[in-house]
Amino acid sequence: MDDFSNIIKEMLVENTLISGVLSNLKNKGMGFSRVDIKPVEIKKEILFQFTYDYKPKVIHKNLTQEEALEEILKLLRETLKQGIFFSTDADYQIFSNKNGNESILKKKPSKKAINISHNRRKKYILADGDPIDFLIRLGVMNENGRVLAKRYDKFRQINRFLEMVQDVIPSLSKDKPINIVDFGCGKSYLTFALYHYLVRILEMDINVIGLDLKMDVINFCNEIALDLGYDKLKFIHGDIKDYETLNNVDMVVTLHACDIATDAALIKAINWNSKIILSVPCCQHELYNKIKSPVLEPMLKHGIIKEKLSSLVTDSLRGNILEILGYNVQLLEFIDMEHTPKNILIRAIKTEKSLNKDALVIYKEFKEFWGLKDLFIERELKGRLGEEFGD
Ligand SMILES: C[S@@+](CC[C@H](N)C(=O)[O-])C[C@H]1O[C@@H](n2cnc3c(N)ncnc32)[C@H](O)[C@@H]1O
Repeated sequence: MDDFSNIIKEMLVENTLISGVLSNLKNKGMGFSRVDIKPVEIKKEILFQFTYDYKPKVIHKNLTQEEALEEILKLLRETLKQGIFFSTDADYQIFSNKNGNESILKKKPSKKAINISHNRRKKYILADGDPIDFLIRLGVMNENGRVLAKRYDKFRQINRFLEMVQDVIPSLSKDKPINIVDFGCGKSYLTFALYHYLVRILEMDINVIGLDLKMDVINFCNEIALDLGYDKLKFIHGDIKDYETLNNVDMVVTLHACDIATDAALIKAINWNSKIILSVPCCQHELYNKIKSPVLEPMLKHGIIKEKLSSLVTDSLRGNILEILGYNVQLLEFIDMEHTPKNILIRAIKTEKSLNKDALVIYKEFKEFWGLKDLFIERELKGRLGEEFGD
């Protein structure tokens, strides 16, 4: 997305838009010459009211955030040359020429918000406007703490992740240091966020390890951790399945680790009896090649549907396995579909329950329905669960 769409998106998503007006027709004969935009609260939902000026009458449309973004971009690209937007952060004047090129003029905010909602701007754990060292270093914020428009999706993802972490903190022991491992940490936006939140904000006694196959990202992250004085955050190079350094890990995080790397991380967590597992799976190839069901052939014969279906079945099986092993499991939406299809977060909290036989029966029936046999995660867990678990 370019700067211009990001600015508009941020105003809509963050609810900072006070009003906007689009004017100056590119081509005559549209029927309307100007569109006014303002947020309205309807049945506790914030919508955006578009008023199209067809002199002498006007037409109103109330659009959702996604629809409003699409409509503004379409109007500015195809129909109207100029947009003026008043937000709580700034005034923006956007000019769009016939070739589809845009220029943006940003000025200090000149309008005060009318409070149409009690909660106008979403309150994040990490706030836009507060300089946060790791976010500056990773290029999400500038030195003044302002989130860069093009990094807003990342910023929201980080905050969404921290909200999910916030909910599980009461399940962690308060009597001992907590060990957390982030498997497949990559560039580690979320690993740094986790550390910053738990250690710097909540002042918990936490050690965090980030592990990844890529040596360059490990070096990059260790350098940042050292520079920022994140003393109990270490990054290690290696493969998830070979990681043996710690054997008492309280929380396992694995976000977007590819294919069975997610399973390898879940297996580690299960074998450690980790109290908390937060896992957002990535591409899932294993089931794609194994799933079979004559009844579902109309779905499975289309690659695109088969891929989505295999992902959903994989995550359902993973959730089910965790339930068998005494975890309370929730599948939550991590971030909006528009950013990535990999948006299911498995949140599992270990209970005192031992093997859940009912969940095991359900698991076997479910697997049979999908024609599944000999799964990686089962093979790896058999030792722990006994023969009755597998085929
Ligand atoms: C898509 S990135 C996700 C990075 C980060 N967790 C995030 O969500 O922003 C996946 C990362 O997992 C790492 N990875 C994949 N398989 C792995 C394995 N078996 N062991 C360790 N790291 C692995 C990759 O190197 C890559 O950096």
